[in-house]
Amino acid sequence: INVGILFGGRSTEHEVSLQSAKNIIDAIDKEKYNITLIGIDKTGHWYLNDSSRFLLNSNDPKYIALHTTDKDVVIVPGEERQKLLCISDRSISGTIDVVFPVLHGPYGEDGTVQGLLKLANIPFVGAGVLGSAVGMDKDVTKRLLRDAGIPIAKFLVCHKWDRDNFNFYEISRQLGLPLFVKPANAGSSVGVSKVKNEQQFIKAVQEAFEFDTKVLIEEFVEGREVECAVLGNENPIASSVGEIIAQQEFYSYEAKYIDENGAILEIPAKLPDDIVKMIQELAVKTFKVLCCEGMARVDFFLTKDNKAIVNEINTIPGFTKISMYPKLWEISGITYGELIDKLIQLALD
Ligand code: DAL
Ligand code: MG
Repeated sequence: INVGILFGGRSTEHEVSLQSAKNIIDAIDKEKYNITLIGIDKTGHWYLNDSSRFLLNSNDPKYIALHTTDKDVVIVPGEERQKLLCISDRSISGTIDVVFPVLHGPYGEDGTVQGLLKLANIPFVGAGVLGSAVGMDKDVTKRLLRDAGIPIAKFLVCHKWDRDNFNFYEISRQLGLPLFVKPANAGSSVGVSKVKNEQQFIKAVQEAFEFDTKVLIEEFVEGREVECAVLGNENPIASSVGEIIAQQEFYSYEAKYIDENGAILEIPAKLPDDIVKMIQELAVKTFKVLCCEGMARVDFFLTKDNKAIVNEINTIPGFTKISMYPKLWEISGITYGELIDKLIQLALD
């Protein structure tokens, strides 16, 4: 079976995708699957096989300060970058049976790539166009979950054109303090801030608008952060539950990928069986309500009185060394290699 691994991409999670892809390439059963590497650089240029490898070994210095996990910077000579793959003049559809999009964030996890693959009639791992688009947008996600009776944190949406009408005192009166400010479409906590006063709020909103034209302002939910992995199509199953114990103000990009002591992962989480069961049921319900397929990781807050509140869904969850999705399946009895195999089979179903 010929598998195309699509990685990199235009989003701010480009480097996270490179790490995820490296692990998937390592873990995939190479006797069963022939791999075609398809790398996308930050400007949206596509590279095939060997010409894509420079992406896996490098990071664009532009984002190094904020969005990188790799300390070794390799600057690629300009001519390497000219080896551009244009999918319209070189048909990959004849040689690829299935694509594994290992792309996080907009232009990859949001239905755009999924639409392209649908159009080209190539099966792919993970959610389709609708599930991807819905899961990427935190505002739409939350409205659908609320409609289905799934608990979410209170939130407000601020559009760029309306930003001058948002008053910190009015918002903090409604949602309390601290508040979270997030771009509606982003991942790995890029552009996310926790704010306690007006000055921080103004700065946070400005920062979030650098990543999106729509920003969410959310109430702070006091509780433990727990995550559950889901796998399957019509009858999805849920994994064990894991916990993240952030060692910083919150589980930021830095706490996730840069600071090795940024967070402690407790897998499985120390929780009573009935709470685990409740979280698993809610994870599967969330997966279904949001029209997901194949895989997703559902992230929750668990309050002191054991109420599980869905924070978000990740339709292409991280596969980096610190990522929960593969780890949760590993302790649930599915090895990394088996997981990749299952995901590809689900795409071909
Ligand atoms: N968005 C990152 C990759 C995650 O949720 O794992
Ligand atoms: Mg996310």
